[in-house]
Amino acid sequence: MIKEQIASLITAKRAQVGVVGLGYVGLPLLVEFARAGFTATGFEIDQNKAAQINGGSSYIGDVASSVVKELVDNKRLRATTDFDHLKDCDAVIICVPTPLRKTKEPDVSYILAAAGEIKNRLHRGQLIILESTTYPGTTDEVLLPMFEDTGLKLDRDFLLAFSPERVDPGNPQFQTHNIPKVVGGVTADSTEVAAHLYSQIVKDVYAVSSARVAETAKLLENTCRAVNIGMANEMARLCYALNIDTWEVIRAAATKPFGFMPFYPGPGIGGHCIPLDPHYLSWKARQHGFDSRFIGLAEEVNSRMPEHVVQLISDGLNDERKAMNGSRILLLGVAYKKDIDDVRESPALSIIDRLRTKGANVRYHDPFVSQLRFDDAHTDAGDEPLESVSLSDEELRTADCIVIVTDHSPIDYQRVCQLTSLIVDTRNALTRDLRRDSSARIIRL
Ligand SMILES: NC(=O)c1ccc[n+]([C@@H]2O[C@H](COP(=O)([O-])OP(=O)(O)OC[C@H]3O[C@@H](n4cnc5c(N)ncnc54)[C@H](O)[C@@H]3O)[C@@H](O)[C@H]2O)c1
Repeated sequence: MIKEQIASLITAKRAQVGVVGLGYVGLPLLVEFARAGFTATGFEIDQNKAAQINGGSSYIGDVASSVVKELVDNKRLRATTDFDHLKDCDAVIICVPTPLRKTKEPDVSYILAAAGEIKNRLHRGQLIILESTTYPGTTDEVLLPMFEDTGLKLDRDFLLAFSPERVDPGNPQFQTHNIPKVVGGVTADSTEVAAHLYSQIVKDVYAVSSARVAETAKLLENTCRAVNIGMANEMARLCYALNIDTWEVIRAAATKPFGFMPFYPGPGIGGHCIPLDPHYLSWKARQHGFDSRFIGLAEEVNSRMPEHVVQLISDGLNDERKAMNGSRILLLGVAYKKDIDDVRESPALSIIDRLRTKGANVRYHDPFVSQLRFDDAHTDAGDEPLESVSLSDEELRTADCIVIVTDHSPIDYQRVCQLTSLIVDTRNALTRDLRRDSSARIIRL
């Protein structure tokens, strides 16, 4: 039986593992399989990425180049743009992007493109797993008919499962190998063999009864975050109106040892997951006549945060009898979260766009992001890229307002507090001591 055939290859570490899409999710996964003793091949459409990996260097912060180099040198790992090598793989895992269209509808075109390449080479004895976050039903409604169109049959010839990725870029404590993995096959055999594969690289594998449950579990996780961050953001605005310190309120509430989990406000949500994934769920719900109101409300509250930050800047300047128009505004951090280089959906983009529209002279400093491009929708006020400026004394002194958008660790906040007159802190990056000793006016979210 096909199940035993693939499972025994996995047990003997003779299964060849292919990962399609080598980004924040795919590259760490590929590396884990190679480290566990499998021959791992990464498939990319980006030639530069494939070349970098084969040259022994990593472009993902959480993966050290030395690790990639060693695995490439030992012929355990390689990357290719030639999808014909998919034929050699016993297990293929899809980790391509799942963005939204401008209409906020799911864009599964990357999944379809990757699955199309697999379909063209599908043969008896392969296990296919989708990891890209997507709406419930993608694996069994979309991929299964595509693969069975070849004449091959699920369970008889190949296996198919969904297993969501939970990687948290920049988190040194939890990485691919120690984050429990949820696995749901389209059939029981698929679940069993996919779970067996992941158990080679992950300590805890949690099998569920279907691919749909696994797809929905991932969306619940990220929707839960989006909704609770929305609640924290609303609380921040409420506290601002009442002149109460939100951060102190959250700290106090978080002392409760049960029934409360702290979420924090910020300048808006970013990244490839939290702002996008809930839309995958609400879109699917709408197809079935169901209106997911929590998702809609969270989106509304969260997407207004950049506007609120710009209001705080404007209020701060106004108190100093300055207009936004012509003011020099320096953003500290443009990545969507601390200590990483990812600017996808970052609220900084929307804040910069709004500031530029109001005539501000915007500059930024980010130790992780050397250039910021405005390729997408954030172009109302021109799409000239910005370069990160160095954080010189002169830069700090000449800024009319400093805005802490990302609380990156390498930034010397003490110096920032000493050399500037107005700071808007959207992350509570400035400690009580720094605030007490600073002569700057500090406005906190
Ligand atoms: N980044 C995260 O923190 C995170 C966490 C959990 C889940 N996810 C999910 O994982 C999936 C991948 O996200 P990511 O952050 O790794 O994206 P990414 O953009 O970093 O990487 C995707 C890679 O896929 C490549 N690619 C695109 N189409 C391809 C194709 N047809 N064939 C081969 N390669 C192709 C791209 O060139 C890119 O290198 C998404 O569905 C995302 O929602 C991401």
